[in-house]
Amino acid sequence: VNFVELIARKRDGLALEPGEIAAFVEAAVNGDAGDEQLAALLMAICLRGASPRETQLLTEAMRDSGERWRLAEVVPAVVDKHSTGGVGDTVSIIFAPLMASCGVPVAMMAGAGLGHTQGTLDKLDAIPGFTPVRERADALARLEECGACLAAQGEHIAPADRKLYALRDITATVPSLPLIVSSIMSKKLAVGAGRLILDVKAGSGAFCKTGAEARALAVELVRVAESAGVAVRALITDMAEPLGAHLGCANEVRAALDVLDGGGSGRLRELTIALAAEALSLAGRSVAQAREELTAAIASGQARARFDAIVRAHGGDPDPDLLPRARKTMTVTGGRAGFVQRIDGEALGWVAVGLGAGRRRSGDQVDHGAGITVHVQVGDRVEVGSPLATLELGTATPDERMVADRTVAAFGIADRPPTDRPLILSRLGGSG
Ligand code: URA
Repeated sequence: VNFVELIARKRDGLALEPGEIAAFVEAAVNGDAGDEQLAALLMAICLRGASPRETQLLTEAMRDSGERWRLAEVVPAVVDKHSTGGVGDTVSIIFAPLMASCGVPVAMMAGAGLGHTQGTLDKLDAIPGFTPVRERADALARLEECGACLAAQGEHIAPADRKLYALRDITATVPSLPLIVSSIMSKKLAVGAGRLILDVKAGSGAFCKTGAEARALAVELVRVAESAGVAVRALITDMAEPLGAHLGCANEVRAALDVLDGGGSGRLRELTIALAAEALSLAGRSVAQAREELTAAIASGQARARFDAIVRAHGGDPDPDLLPRARKTMTVTGGRAGFVQRIDGEALGWVAVGLGAGRRRSGDQVDHGAGITVHVQVGDRVEVGSPLATLELGTATPDERMVADRTVAAFGIADRPPTDRPLILSRLGGSG
């Protein structure tokens, strides 16, 4: 394959042939094409797009660039869950023990934080001793022991995605629908759960800023999953404000424990139950049955006990008192009375990153004790001086005044209450 010709064809808007897509993906792994050629092709795809067939072929070639775990061949009921990433979204840490306590095994490939969002892998890393699995044999062993396996991508799963994602990150080619779909789905298909629940976020705290963008992404993810024989459901959900009240690694583990203990933030609990009910419906339960079962698993303490078992099976200590804490806290208050109209999730996410809860550059150390606790929700009435958020400072020593100003600016307060916005915007997949 002549890579210059291949790049020129995509530059001119022509569709790539299956052999060309295979050669591109192979070159990403074995170095047959230089980084400049790979990056040029990524930019051409970003600008010209890709057909559904090209996206499917790209996904499958990326899946096949490394190991395939084929977990469903050994554990047919295993379900995977993926969120496109948001702020205060700690659903995965609740979902795994909740589903497992209802008898449905869960396998998830957790990712590190991207941009202003915190990743599940970083949150799990806040638990002393917790070690995600990186090998198929360990994944199967964890499923057998505790009904859940939490994995990290490692070197052998979709290596073409690792290479291409790193190039996309530095060439402004992350926001491309076919590249996002092939990146996410190549990893899902390589792990090989036969059932998949997708939470596609829309709003200021998400990568898709509008419902229309999120829907386009969800439609493509569902199409690629179904074409590969995976039973899939997707919810498109609101990320205009943080999902839970807590941002930051240890903070979000504590927030997950609050929900597993029967309390916690209402929106976080509501979305977790909705996604878990979709997963149980893939396992044959009616929605009404599913909700009853999930509520009972929390109320009886079984879901929480399963969390402890999952953490122990992954080498960790589930004692919440061992989670890292902030060095110092600082509460910011509102300067006017009114109703909370908006809470800018992205802005708060970046403040949390600045406190050390995420990475500005790959390779940065994450401070597991740093974060933010938000005290209000959209629609709440506030007075002058009402606490809006508490900043939890870790080892970083930011300009406290600037950080406080940026935090206050993330809250929009107006005279009138906002119009109600649903948490779940729509549902796709199966009969939905
Ligand atoms: N998550 C991924 O794994 N890949 C993308 O391209 C975007 C989000």
